[in-house]
Amino acid sequence: MQSGKIVVENLYKVFGAEPQEAIDLLKQGWSKERILAEKGAVIGVSDVSFSVEEGEIFVLMGLSGSGKSTLIRLINRLIEPSGGNVYIDGQNVAKMPKAELIDLRRRDMSMVFQSFALMPSRSVLDNAAFGLEVAGKSKKVREERAMQVLKQVGLDTFAHKMPHELSGGMQQRVGLARALAVDPSMIIMDEAFSALDPLKRREMQDVLLELQKTDRRTIIFVSHDIEEAMRIGTRIGIMEGGKLVQVGTPQELIDNPANDYVRNFFNTVDTNRYLTAGQLMANSVPIYVHNGKAPDAQTVCQELQALDKHYAFIVDEQNNFQGSISLEKIALLVEGGTSCGLDGDVLKQINPIAENTPLDQVIERLVDNEGPIPVIDEHGHYSGAISKGRLLTRLQGESHE
Ligand SMILES: Nc1ncnc2c1ncn2[C@@H]1O[C@H](COP(=O)(O)OP(=O)(O)OP(=O)(O)O)[C@@H](O)[C@H]1O
Ligand SMILES: [Mg+2]
Repeated sequence: MQSGKIVVENLYKVFGAEPQEAIDLLKQGWSKERILAEKGAVIGVSDVSFSVEEGEIFVLMGLSGSGKSTLIRLINRLIEPSGGNVYIDGQNVAKMPKAELIDLRRRDMSMVFQSFALMPSRSVLDNAAFGLEVAGKSKKVREERAMQVLKQVGLDTFAHKMPHELSGGMQQRVGLARALAVDPSMIIMDEAFSALDPLKRREMQDVLLELQKTDRRTIIFVSHDIEEAMRIGTRIGIMEGGKLVQVGTPQELIDNPANDYVRNFFNTVDTNRYLTAGQLMANSVPIYVHNGKAPDAQTVCQELQALDKHYAFIVDEQNNFQGSISLEKIALLVEGGTSCGLDGDVLKQINPIAENTPLDQVIERLVDNEGPIPVIDEHGHYSGAISKGRLLTRLQGESHE
């Protein structure tokens, strides 16, 4: 068995009279369309396996009808699986007695839905405290805790209002507060922010990310919005026709989409934001090797002029970065008549950046630094250079060179 906070193993959900028959036919290679046509059974979830690590936000993405809601309902067993297992903290939920299951859901696993499902005749505070009331906590305890979580979602001053006095975004904050109140280690969120306008949705994503910094809960978040998925997801699982077709970090999915269905999700996304130094670098800076003897200033000067390059990098024989020098500086050295080698104090020291450095940090470094920045691979060896000009051409869309 895989390890993880939540482990899903060969999970199936068939809506129909003969689920086992349908599963056997799937295993024989029948398509879900054929099973529907000939057997009248709907395949909701088909042979899904994955695991979610503690503290992770795992986003489930997929088109309408791909099985996202069914899958999460199987995880907390709001619906019964037709086959397979779900382990939470190593315990098999699929085999858990009902009473134990209800207890687990109340205590440790909250849900947040798209429809806020607030109780209209109760105050914001009472709505937020609802889970604690069900758990039998005293009025004092639950009101204190409810106030605490309302504060966390920025709604403490609205505690005594009624739900209808709040905007949609605020109502969803109450939904989130209610989920947080019981202090669950897991939260399942099904299109929780989908009913909100883009601005409010972003705001809620920020609230969630902020909360995760202090109390790291394990969250499964269903979304059909790729921007949202990439913004909040530690990893994303992509569902297609009941199957989980790919799981990976946003970067992994962009770099190696398993098929066109996955690739299409990213067509509308500005993937530039997810670029790393390794993808941005080029061999645009001439390299000179210090092989025990420093490169000669005069030679380098002439070569840079001929190449119309303004900088050179010096590396040693093991390809370790030694320093940078500008044509301007070399020209001064040569003019001064000193026939000298390019090493030591003559060179400008620059801290190289690693290939996996994200774009925003690359930009920060470029702003602070005159000239190009060296990039090193995972072994610390020089692998390329990023200049301001290089970055601009990449961001303007010359991504396929
Ligand atoms: N109770 C049910 N009875 C019969 N079929 C069902 C039932 N619930 C879901 N299905 C079917 O299972 C499939 C997956 O549905 P599901 O609601 O999980 O999709 P989804 O990915 O959540 O879609 P959406 O993005 O629209 O919410 C669909 O074909 C759906 O029609
Ligand atoms: Mg759904």
